[in-house]
Amino acid sequence: MKKVLVTGGAGYIGSHTVLSLLKDGYNVVVIDDLSNSSRESLTRVEALAQRKVEFIHASLLDYDKLCAAFTTHQFDSVIHFAGLKAVGESIEKPLEYYYTNLVSTLNLCQCMLKFSVNKLVFSSSATVYGQGASVPYTEDLPLGRAASPYGQTKVMIEQILQEIVASKTGLQVASLRYFNPIGADISGQIGEDPLGIPNNLMPFIAQVAVGKRDKLAIFGGDYPTEDGTCERDYIHVSDLAKGHIKALKWLGEQHHSLYEAFNLGTGTPYSVLGIVKAFIEYTGVDINFDIVKRRDGDLAAFWADSSKAKAILGWQCKYTLADMMKDTWRWQSNNPNGYPNV
Ligand SMILES: NC(=O)c1ccc[n+]([C@@H]2O[C@H](COP(=O)([O-])OP(=O)(O)OC[C@H]3O[C@@H](n4cnc5c(N)ncnc54)[C@H](O)[C@@H]3O)[C@@H](O)[C@H]2O)c1
Repeated sequence: MKKVLVTGGAGYIGSHTVLSLLKDGYNVVVIDDLSNSSRESLTRVEALAQRKVEFIHASLLDYDKLCAAFTTHQFDSVIHFAGLKAVGESIEKPLEYYYTNLVSTLNLCQCMLKFSVNKLVFSSSATVYGQGASVPYTEDLPLGRAASPYGQTKVMIEQILQEIVASKTGLQVASLRYFNPIGADISGQIGEDPLGIPNNLMPFIAQVAVGKRDKLAIFGGDYPTEDGTCERDYIHVSDLAKGHIKALKWLGEQHHSLYEAFNLGTGTPYSVLGIVKAFIEYTGVDINFDIVKRRDGDLAAFWADSSKAKAILGWQCKYTLADMMKDTWRWQSNNPNGYPNV
């Protein structure tokens, strides 16, 4: 059975991907410093999959501990989720973001090359297209200038990985550019559990719905979109998780150094107001909201052309907008305060 190292595997997308990996027969080792997650997510993943995950509680900034993981285990491939991800916080703390995200990735690459582990799936983002790109985004667009230090770490990491590949190290990289992951596993056992005030729309809606927050603030009602609110390409996290399995399988068939980027989105944009209305419609729970002034750095609308992922990886989305809403609500209503502190 193939063994995969999943960095940041206790987090939101990581835990859903670990569940998919276990169900698909992979052995999984997670390394996570739990700076933005709970060990409980993996306990629940193990219960759902009826299989064990090996957990290493460490930061990727600790090169020696990371190397120790490669000494203990013979990995076939790595999926790299670990990093800081809050756009607003990255503007306040750019140094922390550049340091954590870049040094973690450099340490990981050093270990991979040292131990001849060549296959890497990297968590990138639609933010790498920058601010002036035409929609829908296609992978042949150049990397842009992202609107935040967080986004810039993704641009820089993609560039670094491309250069490591170009230097004939044997590295094979699939960079998966996520659009807007939402939803939760259908079991309602795992989901998005942000620390503090949620940065993203869906957990904010879910916390208003469950009574944890009073009101949703919608940033900007005067964008050049149909209803004036921003439009995004929301993708179910379980579809996103599947994309990683497809990427791993595809990398497994490759025999030369390569770098390929793939968009993972549904290709259908929904407005913020549209998402609020969909949540109310599919869950029957009302959401109190205000439209307030725009937030710096938000683009009016973007969505994915994911035809490359379909053609090359054989990946496509199966979950609907209704699934995304119902699954979010199942998770949040079963776990009003997220994961318990155990
Ligand atoms: N959620 C999104 O909307 C989105 C969109 C595009 C890209 N991404 C990227 O996908 C990845 C996963 O995102 P997520 O939403 O699951 O975030 P998350 O915060 O839930 O998961 C990240 C995990 O990495 C861990 N971590 C952070 N720094 C670490 C370090 N130095 N060493 C070890 N572990 C560390 C955290 O504890 C957490 O468990 C991130 O790289 C993120 O930038 C997320």
